[in-house]
Amino acid sequence: MSLPISPRLPLLIALALAAVGLSTVLQQAGADEKSLAFDDSLAVARHARNIFNRRCFGCHGQNGVARKNIFVLDRNRLISSKVVIPGDANSLLIEMVESNAMPLGGPPLPEEEKVALRRWILDGAPEWDPPADKSRTNPLPGIEIPFLVPGLSELNIIALIQRDLMKADERDRSYLRYFSIAHLYNAGATQEEMESHTVALAKLINSLSWHPEITRPAPIDPSGTLFRIDLRDYNWTAATWDRLLAAYPYGLRARDARVVTFLSGADLPYIRADWFVANASMPPLYHDLLGLPETIGQLERMLGVDTFRNLREEKNVARAGVRNSGVSHNNRVLERHVSPYGAYWKSYDFKSNLGNQNIFDILPGLKTGDSFSGM
Ligand code: HEC
Repeated sequence: MSLPISPRLPLLIALALAAVGLSTVLQQAGADEKSLAFDDSLAVARHARNIFNRRCFGCHGQNGVARKNIFVLDRNRLISSKVVIPGDANSLLIEMVESNAMPLGGPPLPEEEKVALRRWILDGAPEWDPPADKSRTNPLPGIEIPFLVPGLSELNIIALIQRDLMKADERDRSYLRYFSIAHLYNAGATQEEMESHTVALAKLINSLSWHPEITRPAPIDPSGTLFRIDLRDYNWTAATWDRLLAAYPYGLRARDARVVTFLSGADLPYIRADWFVANASMPPLYHDLLGLPETIGQLERMLGVDTFRNLREEKNVARAGVRNSGVSHNNRVLERHVSPYGAYWKSYDFKSNLGNQNIFDILPGLKTGDSFSGM
């Protein structure tokens, strides 16, 4: 599509070029392994260990299960068994990974991770747990020296987001926002854990949306740690995102993130998805993001549900009572009303089980049960 050239464009291009320069150094793992800025052999080794932990350990070492007697987290044993020959690009391990024979059953390692393993072996398969090094004394005892994992350091995360924004259509950029679970990946989360965080993010964000369609956040990196959303897919606005940011405690405003702010208008480059899931699933954020009103009457009007009419007409509603709900102390009535957004569930909790609080006396014909399988 052709757009009138805006006077801001030259600046944008200059920033974009600067950004490409930066991320080439940091990131282009697949293209040319020499361009990887892995200067720290400990970093190279930790990255390899992280990959083994997530993708191989389940079959090669966890709970003593060691297929072919390979213990991937035992570096010395990998070498003594000749699965890894330091400095040799023809090591069996590289062959298995680059041919996609391993991880068995797939999915294959992303190119970036294959390069990282090759790099580790070519660098002489350095130790990932070297004995304490006295030359690296900690200036702040009690506070761990921060460790940058190549590929997903903070700088790299920002570079990835920047590149993604730059690839997007200029008119879409102000609607794009990002979630990250890179900190969990860097901390050694398993593939399974990463997947459950990904699913939780997709589920919650769609639950916080009045949009009729379900849209999954889109992963933008090969390891599936960074996700792009388009605010419009959830009927959200920049203000919705800012409401989240206002409550977000990890707001480090990195200098390198200025280009992201310039491109999309977002004050911070990303929000941690696990924080979002833990906090936006509860009030006050839950209510704010959905724009829920103060009273039940207003809510039912908003949802287009007339509960009195449904009950009077005995249509579009199912109703049941439970003696022990597991949620409220006493007996409880639940109703499921048909609504344009799926179902509207209404719960009535009672002060006691007796007299005019005994739902089975006051509501003749109430279905009873401790489960809702019938509804
Ligand atoms: C789902 C289980 C599983 C996963 C995950 C897995 N492996 Fe394996 N691996 C096996 C099994 C089973 C064998 C034995 C295959 C055989 O006998 O041919 C094997 C064999 C190997 C061998 C020896 C091959 C040979 O011919 O001697 C290497 C090296 C290896 N795996 C490396 C890896 C690496 C590296 C990863 C992670 C990137 C990995 N595996 C992930 C199950 C797995």
